Amino acid sequence: MDSDLNILIMAAGLGTRMKSDRAKVLHELDGRPLVNHVVETALSLEPGMVCVVVGHQADEVRKAVISEFGDRVSFVLQEKQLGTGDAVNAARDELANLPGNLLVLSGDVPMITRDTLKRLIDARSDAACVVLSVRLKDATGYGRVVRDGDGNFDRIVEQKDASETEAKVDEINSGIYCFDTIKLFDCLSRLTNHNAQGEYYLTDVPQMMRGAGDKVTILLCEDRREVEGVNDRRQLAAMERVIRKRTVSRLMLEGGVTFVDPRTAYVSARAEIGRDTVICQNVSIEGQTVIGSGCVIRPGTRIVDSTIGSGGEIRDNSFITDSTVGDNCTVGPMAHLRGHAVMMDESKVGNFVELKKTTLGRGSKASHLTYLGDATIGENTNIGAGTVTCNYDGVNKHETHIGDNVKIGSDTMLVAPIKVGDNAATGAGSVVTKDVEANSLVAGVPAKKLKDVPRRAKDAGEATGG
Ligand code: UD1
Ligand code: CA
Repeated sequence: MDSDLNILIMAAGLGTRMKSDRAKVLHELDGRPLVNHVVETALSLEPGMVCVVVGHQADEVRKAVISEFGDRVSFVLQEKQLGTGDAVNAARDELANLPGNLLVLSGDVPMITRDTLKRLIDARSDAACVVLSVRLKDATGYGRVVRDGDGNFDRIVEQKDASETEAKVDEINSGIYCFDTIKLFDCLSRLTNHNAQGEYYLTDVPQMMRGAGDKVTILLCEDRREVEGVNDRRQLAAMERVIRKRTVSRLMLEGGVTFVDPRTAYVSARAEIGRDTVICQNVSIEGQTVIGSGCVIRPGTRIVDSTIGSGGEIRDNSFITDSTVGDNCTVGPMAHLRGHAVMMDESKVGNFVELKKTTLGRGSKASHLTYLGDATIGENTNIGAGTVTCNYDGVNKHETHIGDNVKIGSDTMLVAPIKVGDNAATGAGSVVTKDVEANSLVAGVPAKKLKDVPRRAKDAGEATGG
C-alpha cells in the first residue's frame, strides 16, 4: 500500500449531454459502469484510500461500485452539483488532513491507464499540482490548458469562458490531476464561482496555486484515447468500438483465436478464449466468460458470464448465461442455458432445449424440444424429444433426479419432485407422477410400471468389476 497516495474520483454529476434518466457514470462501457473502470485503475495503484464523490443517483452509483469492489472504496456525498471544485471539497473531512499526493480522477474518463497515473504521480516532486493534458484535433467542449511565454502552465480556461484565441488552443485539460493534498484544500476554501456556468471549477485551483507562488506543471499524455471523456452517447459508442477492437486484436495476435469477421464480434475485455477457437460472425461474448481451446462458436450466439470447456461446438443462435459447459460438448442450435446450468464433458443439448439450474451428466443427451429445470441427470442418459420437467406447481419449485443410463421416452412429463433410478425407461407420452425404480420401464397417464428393463451388458460388466 502507498500511504502517501489517496485517490478521489468525481462521479456526482448528472451528465446532461447524455440525455438520459440515468447518471452518466452508470452508463456501461464494455458491459460495466463507466465509474467502475476508473475505480479499478485507481485500486491498482494500491493507495491509502479511494474515495468516490457521489450525488446524482448516489445510491445507485454506490451500489454499482460496491457490487464490484465491496468495501475497498469509500464514498462522500456531494448534496448539490455545484461544480468539480465543490465535488472535491465534499471530501474535505475525509482527505484534507492527509499529507501527500491526492490524485483526482473523473468518473467519465474511463480509459486512463495505471502507467500514465504513475507517471503523473512521479512528475509531482516539488510542484503543488501536475495537470495531465493532451493535444486534440478537435478540442471542442474541453477546458484548454493555456501556457505562458516560456511554455509553462498559466491557466485552464473552460470552453464556455474561452475567448476566441483561447478556444484555438489544442491542448486540453484531461480532468486528471495530482495535487499536494494540503495545498489543494487550502485553495478550495477560497474558490469562487464567478464564471459562465456559475460553478466552482476545480480548474481554477492550479492558477490559484501559481498565484500563491507554488509550482504547477503539466504532463502531456501521448495517447489521446486514454484521456477522452464520455460526455455524450456518440463518444460512448466510439470508445466501445476502440475497446472491442483492441480486445479482438489481442485475442487474434496473442491468443491464437480465429475471428471470421472481427467487425461483428463483441467480446468483453475480461473474457478469455483459448487457442484455435473459432468465433463466427455476430457472436457476443460478455462479462467474465472463459472459453477453452479448439471450440467453434457459430453465428448469432450470445455467451454471458459462463465457462465453456475445450473442443466444443456452440451452434447458431444459442444463449448461454451463468452456466458451465464441459469439454467436447455440443450446444444448439437455438439452445438456452441459464441459472447455473452445468453440462458435463461429452454431453449434448440440441435445438430448442432449455436448461435451468440443471446438471446434465457426462455423455448424456437432450437433443430436441426439451425443458429441464431444477434437475440432475446422470451419465449416458438420453432425454427424448419434447420432455418437460414439470418443476413448478404454481407456488414452489421442485427437483427432478434422473440416474445413469436412463431412456426418457419422447414427450415424457416428469412431475416433480420425482426420482428416476439408473437404467430405467419411460414410454413415449408418459406422465410420470411417482418415483421410477431402477431397471424398470413405466408408461401411460399416469405412468405405471410395465416391466423390468434387462440390464445392459456394459452395466453387468461393471457390476462384476470387468
Ligand atoms: C471537466 C473540466 C475540463 C476538462 C474535462 C475533461 C472542470 C470545470 N472542467 O469538464 O476542464 O477538459 O473535465 O474531461 O472541471 N462532477 C461532480 N460534481 C459536480 C460536477 C461534476 O462530481 O458538481 C463530476 C462528473 O460526474 C464527472 C466529472 O466530475 O465525472 C467531470 O464533470 P463534467 O461536468 O463532465 O466536466 P466537463 O465539462 O467534462
Ligand atoms: Ca466530462
